[in-house]
Amino acid sequence: MSKKIAIIGGGNLGTAIAEGLIKSKFCKATDITVTKRNITTLKELAGKGVTVTCDNAAAVRSSDLVILAIKPFQVSDVVNGFKKELTAKHILVSVVTGVLISDIESIIKKKLPVFRAMPNTAIAIQESMTCIGVTNASEAQTTYVKDLFSTLGKVTMIDEKLMDAATVLGACGTAFAMRYIRANIQGGIEIGFDAVTANLIAAQTVKG
Ligand SMILES: NC(=O)c1ccc[n+]([C@@H]2O[C@H](COP(=O)([O-])OP(=O)(O)OC[C@H]3O[C@@H](n4cnc5c(N)ncnc54)[C@H](OP(=O)(O)O)[C@@H]3O)[C@@H](O)[C@H]2O)c1
Repeated sequence: MSKKIAIIGGGNLGTAIAEGLIKSKFCKATDITVTKRNITTLKELAGKGVTVTCDNAAAVRSSDLVILAIKPFQVSDVVNGFKKELTAKHILVSVVTGVLISDIESIIKKKLPVFRAMPNTAIAIQESMTCIGVTNASEAQTTYVKDLFSTLGKVTMIDEKLMDAATVLGACGTAFAMRYIRANIQGGIEIGFDAVTANLIAAQTVKG
């Protein structure tokens, strides 16, 4: 039976994950619940069959895998709000920047498999580079989480102590690449191309 997935925090990353999982057919839309306080922005996902709600506790209760996709400063309040719903069936995955697995464990105070994943913005087009660290997980649980993120791009397992380095290389790397492309476009304009042509040459050259 396929796992039920709760995405706590339906913002840029949370919705990109939900969209990617549906598009890749990793799971059915009806197996996904996405939460946020203002659910009016989740109409499109709801239209595809995803359950949208502002009730984090209910979402966690009815799920097997919980993906935490909120801002770092919200972690303590949000996790404290649903932690009593966590049972032995649950796998927890945090994509929150800068929050350690041990920080989450100290809030939940239960021994559960906890993954920390660092995707990048290309997750919106299923081309993310996602680095994953883990504690307390079985091989089957690790394979499941790797398979999930593999539908959203490439995946590598890393030691959690390298997560900051992974953020610089993989997540900030997208911004560095965009700076490089912009510089190429500006250079192209300076040497005589119009903006549209310079954009085309720079973008296709990098893609190639
Ligand atoms: N965007 C990326 O590509 C990316 C890549 C790597 C890591 N990250 C990390 O991923 C996390 C999310 O990033 P993001 O860009 O998706 O931020 P975001 O767009 O601001 O999404 C955060 C979402 O959390 C929701 N939220 C706030 N309080 C909540 C609560 N009590 N219960 C449920 N949902 C709640 C917010 O909606 P409401 O205010 O309506 O509740 C918002 O939609 C951050 O920690 C970020 O560092 C992001």
